[in-house]
Amino acid sequence: MRLFVLGATGAIGQHLLRIGLEHGHHLTAFVRSPSKISQRSDLLKVIEGDVFNASRLTQCLAGHDCVLSAFGPTTLRTTTLRRDFGRTLALALRNSNVPRVEIVSAAFLFPNIGILGYFLTRTLFRKMAPDMAGMESEIMQNGIDWTIVRPPRLTNGPATHAYRIADDHLPKGGTVVSRRDVAEFMIGEAESPAHIRHIVGIAR
Ligand SMILES: NC(=O)c1ccc[n+]([C@@H]2O[C@H](COP(=O)([O-])OP(=O)(O)OC[C@H]3O[C@@H](n4cnc5c(N)ncnc54)[C@H](OP(=O)(O)O)[C@@H]3O)[C@@H](O)[C@H]2O)c1
Repeated sequence: MRLFVLGATGAIGQHLLRIGLEHGHHLTAFVRSPSKISQRSDLLKVIEGDVFNASRLTQCLAGHDCVLSAFGPTTLRTTTLRRDFGRTLALALRNSNVPRVEIVSAAFLFPNIGILGYFLTRTLFRKMAPDMAGMESEIMQNGIDWTIVRPPRLTNGPATHAYRIADDHLPKGGTVVSRRDVAEFMIGEAESPAHIRHIVGIAR
């Protein structure tokens, strides 16, 4: 497959590149800092670009089978970066005729995530949550085969290969998942789509 990776310099993104290469896919990493990509392969092309530039994104996206996004600004402050990113990506997907996309969002957007989640969305994540929800709504458009991946707290732990998946809610009792497992799920979902137009909860 030809996979287009956004957020490829981040922690999940690096796992996406590594697993994608292990599976023999052709990968394009579209990044703002190419020097941050240390992986080398004839199957990996690194392109410098701005994820808020729709025409450049459209041009680079053409010919790919699927976009995998682990994009995510670290700020907890009020911002529209995530929504702006979602809008730009949706436009580029339509204009490049690449219908398939998976994006990493966050489990705190599920309505029933327990008392801790309820508390966090009203405190620490209070300003970030509307922007994250905005990113999702920009992507959930007609004509786009989207999958939204909502992990709870991410860890740098090993791949368990035993993560649990649920459509439209977090798997029961799930509070953490490793970044490796999230990347593994996303590559598998690109290869064999089973959650098109679904919001997926993923947890150990
Ligand atoms: N931490 C958690 O427990 C948790 C839980 C649930 C969901 N999440 C979500 O999961 C996402 C991915 O996690 P992660 O650990 O892989 O994050 P990460 O290591 O911080 O990677 C974020 C990626 O987004 C890119 N990025 C950020 N702002 C950008 C901008 N303005 N323009 C272009 N690229 C930008 C970064 O690029 P640069 O390298 O160029 O900065 C990097 O590639 C997070 O963003 C978060 O929203 C996190």
